[in-house]
Amino acid sequence: MKLSVFHTPELTPETTVANCAIAVDVLRATSTIVTALSAGAEAVQVFSDLDQLLKVSESWSPDKRIRAGERGGAKVKGFDFGNSPLDCTPERVKGRRLFISTTNGTRALQCVQAAPMVLAAALINRQAVVDYLLKHQPETVWIVASGWEGNFSLEDTVCAGAIAHRLQTELGCSLENLAGNDEVIGAITLYQQWQNRLHDLLRYASHGKRLLSLDCHEDLKYCSQTDILDVLPIQREPGVLMNSQSLVTVR
Ligand code: MLT
Repeated sequence: MKLSVFHTPELTPETTVANCAIAVDVLRATSTIVTALSAGAEAVQVFSDLDQLLKVSESWSPDKRIRAGERGGAKVKGFDFGNSPLDCTPERVKGRRLFISTTNGTRALQCVQAAPMVLAAALINRQAVVDYLLKHQPETVWIVASGWEGNFSLEDTVCAGAIAHRLQTELGCSLENLAGNDEVIGAITLYQQWQNRLHDLLRYASHGKRLLSLDCHEDLKYCSQTDILDVLPIQREPGVLMNSQSLVTVR
């Protein structure tokens, strides 16, 4: 297995795809997607464009859909949810489809949607991602961090490092054999330095500060936890993610 990390969607190669692409947006899109599927959402459908989201979700009955829109960390007016994973309780999302558009995370998912396997990862489901990779052994794996409007994000890279570190340990291979680019080594080193202070790291990160200024303290705490949900969002059709466990029963 060769693993590469890209710090932003813009840095991700456009002319090739990996066998497996993993989008990461710890704060907060992929944390929200994992939580929604864990709470029993039927699926999550991602959009980079808010108008497109409204148009596609219009054909769904209001009791079967939730529209989530976030820009700049804040909820978009007129939408049911913003982008807080803590809104995704079973009472609110069970059996419903979450239609979601966020500033960066949903763009990262769209940027890799042509890959044969597309997963969504956050710190909260890190082990579920690693287990899937160990089971399916894709030859090439990309972890695509969402970043913030084309720039590096600490929290996404530390999550990439958390996945890479656990993968290397469980494969028992050398870093030299696993790493497809320098970013993998940088991400693992960042994770090793911060693994016991992830909440602090999220508080120091620029988007973490933005969310704190919007009073999202509990979101930061929640998203900084590692391996708390055994749920893997996997793409079933372009832009539509399902819980890998329900996918087995659908097929
Ligand atoms: C994003 O897509 O940029 C984030 O998920 C923003 C947020 O924290 O809502």
